[in-house]
Amino acid sequence: MTTALVTGANKGIGLEIVRQLVDRGLTVYLGARDAERGEKAAADTGARFLQLDVTDPASIERAAASLDRLDILINNAGITGGMMNGPGHADLASVRDVFNTNVFGVIAVTDAMLPLLRASAHGRIVNMSSGVGSLAGMATSQTPDSLAYVPSKTALNAVTVLYAKVEPNLRVNAACPGYCATDLNNHAGHRTAAQGAAIAVHLGTLDDDGPTGGFFDDNGAIAW
Ligand SMILES: NC(=O)c1ccc[n+]([C@@H]2O[C@H](COP(=O)([O-])OP(=O)(O)OC[C@H]3O[C@@H](n4cnc5c(N)ncnc54)[C@H](OP(=O)(O)O)[C@@H]3O)[C@@H](O)[C@H]2O)c1
Repeated sequence: MTTALVTGANKGIGLEIVRQLVDRGLTVYLGARDAERGEKAAADTGARFLQLDVTDPASIERAAASLDRLDILINNAGITGGMMNGPGHADLASVRDVFNTNVFGVIAVTDAMLPLLRASAHGRIVNMSSGVGSLAGMATSQTPDSLAYVPSKTALNAVTVLYAKVEPNLRVNAACPGYCATDLNNHAGHRTAAQGAAIAVHLGTLDDDGPTGGFFDDNGAIAW
């Protein structure tokens, strides 16, 4: 495995995933929707900037056409839409925006990159999910009442299982980084972005006999 792409990688956990993959000697494409932020992050990390807005089909098509090989795709870009979209007062436009990025964006980027990943001898896909998307854990008080973010990650988990089933030669898994201090949560998380990146790097560099179609954090498998 020599070449990786990380989406939404100009800051936060994505940026740390890039750093850790570059440290392992991989050629890493740092996906970012904004050229200025992306170029700067790429220069800071030794990665190559790739303009990629996961909600923009033209941007996705251009990005895929510019690559001639890809072994590891890490679908990291994500938004919350705020955590105020609870039952009874959901802002449906915001719910749509969140699904557009966190679910439809992942499908669009993954489909565009699949020919390259299939051509790799060790293709890997990691979808940055969240423990809050676990149906098993959803009734607990820790899960925010967001009809946008929470179900978007549950849907992403389903997307992960289907790609794993249809692409048995790839290793396709969902990752939970834990609660990390990033802009996503106004830096309220108790873990660092680098700690959150580790599970994605692990799943992205799995051996050929590693698991596929699973949902993992640093402690192992998470209940769906
Ligand atoms: N932080 C946590 O505690 C936590 C917990 C569980 C799961 N996660 C997941 O981990 C992933 C990374 O989150 P984070 O905490 O690192 O958040 P973050 O610091 O807010 O970073 C999110 C990244 O996604 C990018 N992005 C948003 N919309 C995009 C689009 N349409 N196209 C391309 N890039 C886009 C952002 O780019 P801009 O700078 O241009 O906005 C930014 O680079 C997300 O999927 C999140 O749901 C985070």
